[in-house]
Amino acid sequence: MKKFTSNELRNAWLDFYKAKGHAVIPAASLIGDGTTGVMFNVAGMQPLMPYLLGKEHPMGKRLCNVQGCVRTVDIDSVGDATHFTFFEMMGNWSLGDYFKKEKTAWTFELLTEVFGFDKDKICSTVFEGNASAPRDEETASYLKALGIKEENIFYLDKSNNWWELEGTVGTPCGPDNEWFYPRHENPCCDKCDVECDCGRYVEIGNDVYMQYKKLDGGKYEELEHKNVDTGFGLDRLLLFLNGLDDGYKTDLFQGAIAHLQEVSGKTYGENDSDTKAMRIIADHTRTAVMLIGDVNGILPSNTGAGYILRRLLRRAIRYCKNLCIAATEMCEVAKVFIEKVYFEAYPLLVEKEAYILDEITKEIKKFEVTLAGGMKEFDKIVGGMERKNQFMSQKDPAYVPETEISGKQAFRLYDTFGYPLELTIELASERGLTVDENGFNEAFKAHQELSKAQAQAAKGGLVEHSAATTNLHSATHLLNYALKKVLNDETIQQKGSNITPERLRFDFNFSRPLTLEEIKAIEDVVNGEIAKASPVVCEEMTVEEARKAGAVGVFGDRYGEVVKVYTIGASKEICGGPHADNTKDLGKFRIAKEQSSSAGVRRIKAVLE
Ligand code: ALA
Repeated sequence: MKKFTSNELRNAWLDFYKAKGHAVIPAASLIGDGTTGVMFNVAGMQPLMPYLLGKEHPMGKRLCNVQGCVRTVDIDSVGDATHFTFFEMMGNWSLGDYFKKEKTAWTFELLTEVFGFDKDKICSTVFEGNASAPRDEETASYLKALGIKEENIFYLDKSNNWWELEGTVGTPCGPDNEWFYPRHENPCCDKCDVECDCGRYVEIGNDVYMQYKKLDGGKYEELEHKNVDTGFGLDRLLLFLNGLDDGYKTDLFQGAIAHLQEVSGKTYGENDSDTKAMRIIADHTRTAVMLIGDVNGILPSNTGAGYILRRLLRRAIRYCKNLCIAATEMCEVAKVFIEKVYFEAYPLLVEKEAYILDEITKEIKKFEVTLAGGMKEFDKIVGGMERKNQFMSQKDPAYVPETEISGKQAFRLYDTFGYPLELTIELASERGLTVDENGFNEAFKAHQELSKAQAQAAKGGLVEHSAATTNLHSATHLLNYALKKVLNDETIQQKGSNITPERLRFDFNFSRPLTLEEIKAIEDVVNGEIAKASPVVCEEMTVEEARKAGAVGVFGDRYGEVVKVYTIGASKEICGGPHADNTKDLGKFRIAKEQSSSAGVRRIKAVLE
């Protein structure tokens, strides 16, 4: 195998396909263009959607490029050696031009001649066939003719050898041919082949034979033109070709990691928590640079793609604290990516450098304010402990002073103020105190279980479902809508909700008490919606579609996840239900109480009469 730098690999890809008559098309924006409902560009083919469906491309029928992609579906896995939120897909396409014969030959040529793979070790998987598409004997026969060993060709099912954009309809898709290569020659067992979990075989890339259009309800329609959609992940291939097992050791990350080592005085790979912190800071900063510096660049915000960006930046800032470096070092890391790594492939980043760094700095400052809120809480905890110790010691000379912050307190700092446990431990040790880490983990687990149980209860309908609570639940949605409308504030969000058969309770962010006029106006809006006697409509859609449809609710970044959206009168919310059938069932809505719940949060209690 030959070794490559990232720039060499990009160029090798483009040069190879240029020589086969492909035009190099510019990379598209990383931000979803709204046509698929996906927040970010997650695959190289995504910007080519209309052309794969038959539209003529101005640059011809043979195209190639290197396209950045952002996948935040497993943001929490970032920190290990192989998960990243940004990656580059090297792609090439036939738009109704060449098909399986040429494509298998070219991929084979690229792997053996450009990358130096041994043809006897190359493994390839093809589609075994189902009701939608036949077994791909054609591809298999070309592979054999090229000299790939018969025992290295595998027929696999739809879950392996079929490619489509999950959670979308009207998009092109089809069976694929995936290419694998072993990392080493030591099988873990007799059946250690491409399907083995031991990780000996690495997927190098795949050729999708896109000849179908995905319709609603899991059906497929044959496309008039047969396309090829090839995707080889640059980052993964770079790692493999250079014989590495850790993505942060490639030249894409070397500069960033070197800087983090230098300023922290810690060594990458020496201990798990520092290594993890360096990876998270590097990965998230890189993605933030790409998103802010994109042609359709975005900024951190509280909704949609901007929220994902905010999460990435804040997670990185927190890990700077863990690594005991200033968060502003992220700007230095960003500079390394812009000036030393991506300047050639992404010249726009260089043009926008000052802007990118400025926006990262602003977000760091904003988050520091939030963290300062936690500091007050921390001081309160410690102050309380010291007062108690002083008081008790005066009363009882044998009293042993407390020196441990409880798991519950540490969890509150984490949950409400975004304090990672490591930060609390560090602050505690500066005051000569310790933290009950087991207690923290227990509180964390209990919290997770509680949310899981709540989510399941809501999903599985285990909660109490009397007509009274169901109607109050629907009224809660109308109230949520009415608050935004009457107070003319789109940032109002549900902060909590509790329903008994007698009343609803709803907490929301708002900085002052409501006036009597406002309360009256909110009641009028809700009762107005009830009077319209609108049937309640429940639809299932992906979170991206829900967001596009203007539904309110909690949007994770779980790409493709299907959620229920309830339309109740003028309100549209992501929710598990259950709800009344018609708004007319709700009766008359009355706000019984309006009070403060906590800082910046108001609480309304209301009834249906
Ligand atoms: N569209 C294919 C992929 O993303 C090539 O893997």
